[in-house]
Amino acid sequence: MKTPADFPTVPLGFLPTPIEPLGRLSAELGIDLAIKRDDFTGFGGGGNKVRKLEFLMAEALAIGAGVLITTGGHQSNHARMVAAAARKFGMEAVLVLRGNPPTAYQGNLLLDRLFGATLEFLEPTEYFTLVEPRMAAHAEAARAAGKVPYVIPLGGATPTGALGYVRAVEEMDAQLKAAALPPPDVVVAPTGSGGTLAGLKLGALRHWPGTRVIGVSVSRDKAWFQDRIAQMVNAAAELLEWPERTAPADIEVDDGHVGTAYGVPSPGGNAAVSRLGLTEGLLLDPVYTGKAMHGLFDMVASGVIPQKASVIFVHCGGSPALYPFSDSLLGA
Ligand SMILES: Cc1ncc(COP(=O)(O)O)c(C=O)c1O
Repeated sequence: MKTPADFPTVPLGFLPTPIEPLGRLSAELGIDLAIKRDDFTGFGGGGNKVRKLEFLMAEALAIGAGVLITTGGHQSNHARMVAAAARKFGMEAVLVLRGNPPTAYQGNLLLDRLFGATLEFLEPTEYFTLVEPRMAAHAEAARAAGKVPYVIPLGGATPTGALGYVRAVEEMDAQLKAAALPPPDVVVAPTGSGGTLAGLKLGALRHWPGTRVIGVSVSRDKAWFQDRIAQMVNAAAELLEWPERTAPADIEVDDGHVGTAYGVPSPGGNAAVSRLGLTEGLLLDPVYTGKAMHGLFDMVASGVIPQKASVIFVHCGGSPALYPFSDSLLGA
């Protein structure tokens, strides 16, 4: 049996990130809520993708990659961090983004430009049919120019990428043990491509068997995530030669808080962003963590998360997306 430490990585993040108790919000909700500050992973503006990229960039370096190619939405934090990682290792980045060419480069789009990425925009209705061929075409163009391409799928959601969040559970486990605290009853995280939840789930199966891991979808429906995440958990367990396996029915995903669509702020998500600002002086974002916190509030209200439960919310970053959505957040 292996551990994530047996796999090649490149150090990118400022780790470990703190686990911060949210005293005032805990008192309001009647639970014991703490937040894993993965918005502080640091590299390239920070966020959850840094942990995945530590593994994926080791693969990219091993094949001598000169061009990183990936995809995401306009405000993709993942795409922004891939652009930063490319620069750190003297590579180029090509980002195939879902959305029309913007009239202004704000938030992550601004950062993509500052990191010098090449951006291609795909009309949202054509995105799902065009994205794979377009990424393949960019890879081919890189090869034709004598460069080695490395294609990273949406969200870095691969079994190798998921090892980053297995390692995050190990990190949290050591932090809790050092503070003489037991594992949490529940872990909640926003779920966009599923890689983060897959890593958290596998880490919990191994180290915290009594802990529920709940993803709040910001994009797809529950059944889609259950299949995809169970596959990723099992594939990552195989990589690690661990006996743990899971089934789609054991993957807990709340898909009631997406709002109109991925990337479109929702009233409940915006209210959660505001509530965290007002109770804890803490920044969430309207695309991922605000919607996930909205889900957490509703799960507490409905009893899905029982009173007095100890809960760790994984803050996956994303604050650059606050700025392009200022009108929506301020209710204009
Ligand atoms: C801030 C933030 N939260 C959550 C997620 C979702 O993580 P995953 O794609 O691993 O499900 C992302 C991914 O892009 C993100 O940027």
